[in-house]
Amino acid sequence: MKSVKAFAPASYSNLSVGFDILGMALTSLGDIVELTQREDSSIVITQINGADNLSLDTDKNCCGIVIQKMQETLDSSVGCNIIIHKGFKPGSGLGSSSASSVGAAVAYNELLGNPLEKEDLIDFALEGELVACGAKHADNVAPSLFGGLVMVRSYDPLDILALPVPEGLYAVTVFPDVVVKTEASRKLLPEKIGMSDLTKQVANMAAFVKALYEEDYDLFSNCLNDHVAEPYRKSLIPHFDTMKSIALDNGALNFGISGSGPTVFSLVKDETEAEDIRTRIEQLLRENDIACNSFIEKLSYSEGAYIMT
Ligand code: HSE
Repeated sequence: MKSVKAFAPASYSNLSVGFDILGMALTSLGDIVELTQREDSSIVITQINGADNLSLDTDKNCCGIVIQKMQETLDSSVGCNIIIHKGFKPGSGLGSSSASSVGAAVAYNELLGNPLEKEDLIDFALEGELVACGAKHADNVAPSLFGGLVMVRSYDPLDILALPVPEGLYAVTVFPDVVVKTEASRKLLPEKIGMSDLTKQVANMAAFVKALYEEDYDLFSNCLNDHVAEPYRKSLIPHFDTMKSIALDNGALNFGISGSGPTVFSLVKDETEAEDIRTRIEQLLRENDIACNSFIEKLSYSEGAYIMT
């Protein structure tokens, strides 16, 4: 029976200035979703590698939901067994459920002979996000599917715009090993934000776009401040303020929360400075008995989800 495998990348979302509207795909980290066609029309999750707290129940797992929705909409009788290879931990703030949802959508489309365009897959992947996070935010799904750095200009109708990736910067990613559920992290946010915070955030977002187009890293650094989510969410991340001071005092252009956390990230011009920041933050967490994973990657355009041959 036919088998297909899709890779879908992890992503930073929000990027401090664009709560629920900005996201950037990473290049190497991601999930692989493997489908093998069945003789009947059932959708069965047979294995999940790399995570032990995800449901094998098709009605509760984001990959199962995405494929069921596609099957219904396309009136398809093609069933499949699903193996999910998690490349990074769920609940990290790096778009874990989005990577799986996008991988499932891309793989099932391939299994059916690609009846849908990539653009058509986003609605299905968002159904997976809804089940996993309680909200259909597209700021991880869109970069994971399309690659690069994207802005969700509108949700109704969905309008995704590509922005330039700040290529050549070094991205330091640190994942303190504490559990932060996106749904819970969203509940911490206020229903309304004040006019003064709104003004600052809009100004910073506009400056961010200018900085990207002009590769103006001073402006980039000045505008990457979060007045919407970070003040409420940083309490979920141990030693957030100290980690931020370490990063900013040692050459980072920014320090922020990736998505709903607990992963934090800094963008740095110089590789040695990036290594130094990573080492110092790891040391701080270790000294405080907090396990962590970290990595550095050189930013470059990532093509988004693809079929593996
Ligand atoms: N924009 C979403 C949030 C991303 O911050 O809740 C979730 O990872």
